Amino acid sequence: MPEASDAETRDARANAAVEQALRHAAGDAGVLSFDRFMEIALYEPGVGYYERRPGPLGADGDFYTAAHTSPLFGRTIARRLSAEWQALGSPTTFAIAELGSGDGRLAQTLIEEAGRLGDFGTAVRYVLVERSRSLAERALERLRPLTSHLRWVPRLSELGPFSGAVVANEFFDALPCRRFESDGTDWREIGVRWSSVGWTFAPLAAGRTLGGPPLPRPGPAGTVIEWPTTAFGVVRAIADHLTRGVALVFDYGASEDEIGQRYPRGTLVAVRNHRAIPNILDQPGAQDLSAWVNFTRLNEYAEAAGLSVVSDDRQSEALGAWGGAEVLGEIVRDADAVEAVRARLAAKNLLFGFSNFRAVVWRAGPARARSSSGPAPG
Ligand SMILES: C[S@@+](CC[C@H](N)C(=O)[O-])C[C@H]1O[C@@H](n2cnc3c(N)ncnc32)[C@H](O)[C@@H]1O
Repeated sequence: MPEASDAETRDARANAAVEQALRHAAGDAGVLSFDRFMEIALYEPGVGYYERRPGPLGADGDFYTAAHTSPLFGRTIARRLSAEWQALGSPTTFAIAELGSGDGRLAQTLIEEAGRLGDFGTAVRYVLVERSRSLAERALERLRPLTSHLRWVPRLSELGPFSGAVVANEFFDALPCRRFESDGTDWREIGVRWSSVGWTFAPLAAGRTLGGPPLPRPGPAGTVIEWPTTAFGVVRAIADHLTRGVALVFDYGASEDEIGQRYPRGTLVAVRNHRAIPNILDQPGAQDLSAWVNFTRLNEYAEAAGLSVVSDDRQSEALGAWGGAEVLGEIVRDADAVEAVRARLAAKNLLFGFSNFRAVVWRAGPARARSSSGPAPG
């Protein structure tokens, strides 16, 4: 039998540790809410999916994000942020807090482009808001040669009030969510249960409070929804900390109605090696878990928390409106013939391959009426 490589042994140990943490959390009853399952599988310190090396992003990982697909993405966002900096009166410092900054690829492109945009580059103070220590360390390694105006915080609430921008790419889809199934007249929560055949979905006893906005009216029997309780907490934290400026949110998702029509059994997806894995609960910790972002609810919650929704567009359209064509022209102009072809192909992938992605802009409200509902800041 061939010997297991170091990486395989490390992964097997991490899988076992995640499994142990899940069973411990499930207790004697062997039952766990889905948000808790997702939390442990993805983020258990040292062993969860996002804690592992070499990490999930890019060709050697499990999936690409827009940040890894084409520099057009980050460079165009930098232009949008530079316009925001000017609208704020070109202050000497402008914080960019990137939520879920991963391995720092988007930050790298943004910081490099900001450097090409005159005084904006000098004003940028970049903050990586990343809960995975392992990914944050990789990002810091990547970015330290580019700027000394760089910080890492594991959560936004450690930052204090700031003026500038929040950027979040494929962040909200990765936040633990709860799951509910309609019986035609009411929702019942669906969690997971451990048995000799592994983890399976199972109804939970009622009783846990929801926190945040109420669930929608129940759909036809059998309808399943994911409810973004963790995301609501993060939106509130953005509203509480961003005093002036904008939050740019990029993610795959849609309106609540569209999600309901397209995915009446829910949107959860597990991904490994660039493929969707049919058994979502298989090998927790070894595969990514995510859910479509319900932008109807997130935007409503943002407004209730004191942010104003400036725009909600297809990602490709937003990039176009922010000067994407001009940026692509510059990328191609500065490239040799082969690189220019690659750059065009990468841009095509970005603009057509991320067709379910939206770009949403929230602005910090000047006079903010806070709603009293909702969970504490994340
Ligand atoms: C799908 S990855 C996206 C990474 C990066 N934005 C990109 O585009 O390549 C989601 C990232 O969010 C991070 N994350 C999840 N929950 C977080 C939280 N509450 N605070 C900070 N980072 C979080 C994960 O560790 C992971 O790095």
